[in-house]
Amino acid sequence: MANSKYEYVKDFESDAKILPHTWIVVRIDGCHFHRFSADHMFEKPNDENALKLMNSCAVAMLQHFPDIVFAYGVSDEYSFVWRETTRFYQRRECKLLSLSVSYFTSVYVMRWKEFFPNKELKEPPYFDGRVVCYPRVKIVRDYLAWRQVDCHINNQYNTCFWMLVKSGKTEKEAHELLKGTLSKDKNELLFQQFDINYDKLPAMFRKGSCIFRDEVEETVKLDEGGNPVKRTRMKVTVDHIDIIGPKFWSERPYILKEDLK
Ligand code: GTP
Ligand code: MG
Repeated sequence: MANSKYEYVKDFESDAKILPHTWIVVRIDGCHFHRFSADHMFEKPNDENALKLMNSCAVAMLQHFPDIVFAYGVSDEYSFVWRETTRFYQRRECKLLSLSVSYFTSVYVMRWKEFFPNKELKEPPYFDGRVVCYPRVKIVRDYLAWRQVDCHINNQYNTCFWMLVKSGKTEKEAHELLKGTLSKDKNELLFQQFDINYDKLPAMFRKGSCIFRDEVEETVKLDEGGNPVKRTRMKVTVDHIDIIGPKFWSERPYILKEDLK
């Protein structure tokens, strides 16, 4: 029996569940970060501390939500891949999405001072989020490749753009100069005009950031002879490497392992 005559309002609730046996990607993206980054004087095109703060939040996500197996971040966005077998909140989409976004945002605010000890947080950072589910590992990998290709295209463009602007061109002139240029033209421009070898720029800027659990060897103690006793364990790790080709994934088959049971 209903507890009160008002309880019928619950019938209006919907409770969408994410398809079973699919990989879940939650992508969050900073809201109006064009303005937020300007208000906080982030360096252009890449602010190392801002990116490291994002990475730190993503590490916290993997530590807090064990069913997240991989994360990829660039600029003001982060994608979190949940394992296909997760039963987290019975795969309720609202729960997964809202908890991800709010946890990430809280950590971002909490750790701001660690990364920007001399900058006051002037306005609340906030993020939007979406959930997409993919039925096969191949598509998850293609999704991540899509984000990393995007990182490359944007970073190469932005690096050229801001070098031109810093060298005295107006933003309009810089846009005009870059219109229709190919990747190799941009590399050439950086090299010829600014003596920059694009491939030597920090990997975090060029490749984005990958967060995953990796095997690390640790010394747990010294034995009687003073020799180190080592143990391997899985540690949440940040790296800036290629995830488009097969190497990364074939070296770590456990990350996106299909459940064959
Ligand atoms: P919405 O996401 O639609 O709300 O807009 P947005 O302003 O956040 O733009 P979008 O997500 O498309 O792009 C992210 C923006 O954040 C970039 O265009 C930059 O303006 C800014 N941004 C992100 N990372 C950095 C950084 O390291 N340095 C600087 N200067 N800006 C950054
Ligand atoms: Mg944004």
